[in-house]
Amino acid sequence: MEKQVESIVRQVVEDVLRKKGFAKNERRQLVIANWKMNMTLEKAEVFLEQLCDNGENRTNDVVICPPYTLLYPMNKLLQKRSKTIGLGAQNLHTAHEGAHTGEISAAMLKELDCQYVIVGHSERRAAGETDGMVHEKIKRALEIGLNPVICVGETIEQREQGFTNEVVNHQLLQALEGINDFSKLIIAYEPVWAIGTGRSASPDEAQTVHEAIRLTLSEICGTDSEAMPILYGGSVKPDNAGILSNMKDIDGFLVGGASLVANDFQKIVGTLRKGMDS
Ligand code: 13P
Repeated sequence: MEKQVESIVRQVVEDVLRKKGFAKNERRQLVIANWKMNMTLEKAEVFLEQLCDNGENRTNDVVICPPYTLLYPMNKLLQKRSKTIGLGAQNLHTAHEGAHTGEISAAMLKELDCQYVIVGHSERRAAGETDGMVHEKIKRALEIGLNPVICVGETIEQREQGFTNEVVNHQLLQALEGINDFSKLIIAYEPVWAIGTGRSASPDEAQTVHEAIRLTLSEICGTDSEAMPILYGGSVKPDNAGILSNMKDIDGFLVGGASLVANDFQKIVGTLRKGMDS
């Protein structure tokens, strides 16, 4: 019975989307580099030089999220080298300000010209970040005009027990409860078992979850969901990005390891453009 209801809802959503003619290539496509705790200023300079020399500065679909310590110099470098590559942080604190040693607030990121911030990455969730904290961080980001990149994803145990959609839907519902400005949201589906393992989700596995996410988003925010990019992350490499980017509900990537090598990252960005053209 539940399955039947789900299938009817899915059909209605698909009909609405079709009638409205909202196709993948009308949604924003983007590739975000999550450098995690990697890179030095020297390496970042070389990376950016290579990326921009290869013509990357004509795109507006690339965002780099360096460690906090590189945000200031990266902002300066980007001002010189590229008018279009966006700058993002990997985290922010739930509070506006206060006695939180070692933490960074949304306002501090805004001051460094960040436009994006990753929220709820599984590596942070593993370090104690709860759904409630993710929700607060999204609010802080939106209040100040940052685009939150909201990460969701299941562990291998949850997948094997058949709970993937439940886990991801729960994370989304908790994250977005009471939020009513959806225009800045970016969702990233990152199965925990695919991160840094070299074992990406297959295109069909990823598409299935992305489709479920889009359905949940449509229930949360109605037609606003249609414009929301859903990125895939987890062992994205130049050789699997093309086939993943051809999937209907994959609007780009959140890239870890392969974003540290300009040439690889560039190839990933290139496959996305092909996906758009096709
Ligand atoms: P990898 O691309 O190294 O698997 O990392 C993915 C990720 O965690 C991006 O946020």
